[in-house]
Amino acid sequence: MDFRTQSASLQALAATSADALVVVLAGDSLPADLDPAIAELVKDSIKLGDFEFKAGKTLLLQRPNGVKAPRLVLAAAGKATLKAAKTALQAALGLVKARAAAHAAVAYVGFDGLDESLAEQTVLAASDAVYVYRHTKPSAPEASALSKVTVLADKAQAKPVKRGLERGQAIAAGVELARECANRPGNYATPTYLGEQMHELGRTHGLKVEVLDQKAVEKLGMGSFLSVAKGSDEPLRFIVARYEGAAKSQAPVVLVGKGITFDSGGISLKPGAEMDEMKFDMGGAASVLGTLRAVAELKPKINLVAIIAACENMPSGRALKPGDVVTSMSGQTIEILNTDAEGRLILCDALTYAERFKPAVVVDVATLTGACVIALGGIRSGMYASDDELAQSLLAAGDDALDPCWRMPLDEEYEEGLKSNFADVANVGSRAGGSITAAMFLKRFAGKYRWAHLDIAGTAWKGGAAKGGTGRPVGLLTHFVLSQAR
Ligand code: BES
Ligand code: MN
Ligand code: ZN
Repeated sequence: MDFRTQSASLQALAATSADALVVVLAGDSLPADLDPAIAELVKDSIKLGDFEFKAGKTLLLQRPNGVKAPRLVLAAAGKATLKAAKTALQAALGLVKARAAAHAAVAYVGFDGLDESLAEQTVLAASDAVYVYRHTKPSAPEASALSKVTVLADKAQAKPVKRGLERGQAIAAGVELARECANRPGNYATPTYLGEQMHELGRTHGLKVEVLDQKAVEKLGMGSFLSVAKGSDEPLRFIVARYEGAAKSQAPVVLVGKGITFDSGGISLKPGAEMDEMKFDMGGAASVLGTLRAVAELKPKINLVAIIAACENMPSGRALKPGDVVTSMSGQTIEILNTDAEGRLILCDALTYAERFKPAVVVDVATLTGACVIALGGIRSGMYASDDELAQSLLAAGDDALDPCWRMPLDEEYEEGLKSNFADVANVGSRAGGSITAAMFLKRFAGKYRWAHLDIAGTAWKGGAAKGGTGRPVGLLTHFVLSQAR
């Protein structure tokens, strides 16, 4: 999709050429300097009872009087916040994309000082609106006609809007990559496929990529990762990619993604209902790929390392069993009490591996626990951090990107349940506080670096009729990485 900005004053919005002019309105009145033709139409629509200054209200007018564009879409946002603007725009785009409009021009009225973020979110909303999964569905609906979006802004705002459009397009490309990887079925999006995707990204964006196979992983001594992979016939991959945007001497940000391309639970088999959704259990890996793509496009002065541990979790005669004890790369032994708690088993070795990069910070991203879905639902990702400043940065990144998270606790008392009579640590505790005990398990393996963990079990995909990957938390992570650049 083509995104651009065009300078237009509020007074002359009606002169905009486009197939649809979208006007997003904050507050409950019209500014005095709004184009009189548009102001007249809004007032008349309110008089008729067809439109209101109430969040969620939209109205499509065809061939409106005095307006150059053949369609005028009004969308009320209510509050003058970024989130309210995006929600209103999404509703408006719903009307636009259902029609033959190829070019939409968007104006925001009453959102002072939000230009850059509004431009970014406009791109994200438009890309999201036209995304269609089709890789394994030839009968998928045809692409929407919408192919060009212009953000109308005051001349003085041209620079921030341009920056916002650039960031939005990079993030949107990352989100789309993450969604597409997540949506592809387990028999397509295998560990091998994820490795190929990273090689591809390396080729197009000039990244150093290494994809390790089982032999190499054995050499590294990743006994915990190997123990999960060995139940499956699908070969594992340990994927490492580097974006170098700063001096070699600068400590990198390291992202670690859980790449379970299908989680059956293993011998601790999951119930059948909704088990298909466990193809999304590589959502962490997908978001790391997507973030790397966005960062490589934006080229900030920072070093970034992406690590993905990818395998399937399957039952078989060779599979890991409850009661087995495995030795992690860190040397710590782990008693397996539940083979369905496999995410932490692959991540712990990746966290140990991360140490070799002498990272400034390591953030792991994982669809780790059903308990996190119970705690936070699908709105905020669970966030754990070893220090307050890091937690603040992640919270702020999430808010800025409209991809929010919520800090969860790491009190040492939560570690109690992970005691084992047969190993240094057990892989599960009691059911209570399940997302926290999972984080406590990972914390034991986080090395001498600042560390954070995002539990995205509730946010990485949607179930039900709109089943599909969301591309989260590519927005949060990209904003976070950009915030770490010096
Ligand atoms: N991939 C799942 C977590 C999950 C479950 C994400 C449901 C989204 C929806 C993870 O590997 C898992 O199975 N976790 C177990 C841990 C338990 C055995 C301690 C869980 O949450 O039930
Ligand atoms: Mn599992
Ligand atoms: Zn899992």
